[in-house]
Amino acid sequence: MSSFSISLIHGDGIGPEVNTQAVRVLQAIGERFGHDFTFQEYLAGGAAIDATGVPLPEDTITGVKASDALLFGAIGGPQWEDMPHHLKPEAGLLQLRSQLGAFANLRPAVVYDELVDASTLKPEVVRGTDIMVVRELTGGIYFGEPRGVSGSGDGRVGSNTMVYSVEEIRRIAQVAFTTAQLRSKRLCSVDKANVLDVSQLWREVVSEMAADYPDVELSHMYVDNAAMQLVRRPTQFDVIVTGNLFGDILSDAASMLTGSIGMLASAAVGGPVGFFEPIHGSAPDIAGKGIANPLAAIASAGMLLRYGLNCETEADAVEQAIRAVLRDGLRSADMAGPGVQALSTQDMGDAVIARLG
Ligand code: IPM
Ligand code: MG
Repeated sequence: MSSFSISLIHGDGIGPEVNTQAVRVLQAIGERFGHDFTFQEYLAGGAAIDATGVPLPEDTITGVKASDALLFGAIGGPQWEDMPHHLKPEAGLLQLRSQLGAFANLRPAVVYDELVDASTLKPEVVRGTDIMVVRELTGGIYFGEPRGVSGSGDGRVGSNTMVYSVEEIRRIAQVAFTTAQLRSKRLCSVDKANVLDVSQLWREVVSEMAADYPDVELSHMYVDNAAMQLVRRPTQFDVIVTGNLFGDILSDAASMLTGSIGMLASAAVGGPVGFFEPIHGSAPDIAGKGIANPLAAIASAGMLLRYGLNCETEADAVEQAIRAVLRDGLRSADMAGPGVQALSTQDMGDAVIARLG
């Protein structure tokens, strides 16, 4: 019997609803596999702003760092949009990623056969898609200096800087190469090396590293072409490695191949404590209605088991239960086609737990 302490940040919007189902799934896993999970809640994002005035209180950072893994819901909402930049909910999320040193963001996009018709793309295009986007998460234009708006009135100039050091490129590429080794051994590095100096360095460093991974077939693609190829023939990709901004954009595009962004989980690893969150946002429009799809949050709990706690069998059980729910035709509102009765958030949680084996 192992004991694990899990930090919870439910966040805003649908965050608390979907995270609650993910916690129930972890509890059920604990019972079935004999683990003792203890959960501790912390504030971040809009909820933290309302309670403490800042989007990432100090005790959240200390508490999360002392735990074994973090399960994160979602943050943000219209009520905080007019806050100054450094006090927005999103700033809390970025600080948290940075403080945890979670530089490697794994974002799988898998098209389940059961959902092949849920995609807005043709089934013959998306069938068989199984992509892992490895997004650099603590550098690039999100964090680069100088940044800001200077001057006044019509003379104002806004800037951000896309910056990557060799060290930052090497460590994310290493995660991507080793991830590819465990999959179909194809790695596509996405950049904008035809225009950006930072991308030229990126491409050079990634290419140099290929010699250390002779079993991995490395290719390079410009980000504009990658966006096109993702919707043209997504099955050509296995692992994609890219910087923070390109990864943000491409992972949203990849998510829609699967039919619903409500399905996609992510893991942010590389630091001492792994950070697991659904890639969908806080969806304020449906918050509190009990209709949000909890499968991305539940799949994030699966990634927490696999990448955060090294509990492979338990992670497999969660993934298989999600597949079983879909195979049995159960759908939440985001996926239910015409004439299909949509399950509530809680009922989807129940359905997964009932299929945990
Ligand atoms: C994501 C989100 C975040 C990002 C926002 C909420 C700051 O879009 O996790 O993809 O841009 O990284
Ligand atoms: Mg995003």
